[in-house]
Amino acid sequence: MIVKILENYMELSKIAASMVAGEIKRNDKLVLGLATGSTPEGMYAELIRKFKAGEVDFTDVTTFNLDEYASLAPDHPQSYHFFMNKHLFDHINIKPENINIPDGCSSDLDHECYEYDLRIEEAGGIGLQILGIGTNGHIGFNEPAEMLCVHTHLVDLSDETIKVNSRFFESFDQVPRKAVTMGMGTIMHAEKIVLLASGKSKAAAIRQTVSGGLTTAFPASLLQLHKNVTVLLDREAASLI
Ligand code: GLP
Repeated sequence: MIVKILENYMELSKIAASMVAGEIKRNDKLVLGLATGSTPEGMYAELIRKFKAGEVDFTDVTTFNLDEYASLAPDHPQSYHFFMNKHLFDHINIKPENINIPDGCSSDLDHECYEYDLRIEEAGGIGLQILGIGTNGHIGFNEPAEMLCVHTHLVDLSDETIKVNSRFFESFDQVPRKAVTMGMGTIMHAEKIVLLASGKSKAAAIRQTVSGGLTTAFPASLLQLHKNVTVLLDREAASLI
């Protein structure tokens, strides 16, 4: 694991965007795994800036998002479909057919999950996966549990995640209780992983991610087993390591 501590959130966002752009320069057909949440917003803004400045071209890039709430339609303002369009896809030249986000509204979610992994495999696997982290150590929506799933699956969100994510909804009751997420295997098979964390609220989770024992009770700890992970932190997120 390589850990880089940046001065602040803006620096972190710039470095993350440069890593993505650099990877696309090396391989214009990059299969890019994307994350939602507040943390990558700055990276997306910087990628849009780079695109507009002619510094990065998404023509042949394919993306796979980590997760989506079950039962939220793509045009729901809190769906991850909506988030990705708003924060990235509407502003760059990616081909719509190259964008992949799990369909949380599918009438056959088991099939949707199976198909999602198949699509990743057919695309040649994920070259670079961007991750955020939940305060409880979740990555994607792989919540702390006795057992973790390898493949894309339907998951019950933990009480902590529902509480933390309720800040985006009008009320606690509106937060979906389930989500579709890439599994730990899907994530761990990515060639490279870049995990982003910003702010004090993530400091304890980061300590456990980079130096805690491996446990399914803290899914991000398993990243220590991956051979190419870079953790980008601002000073606050790094304050306990
Ligand atoms: C969400 C997402 C994760 C994300 C995490 C942290 O629940 N499913 O992929 O990494 O929460 O979000 P934030 O960056 O807003 O702290």
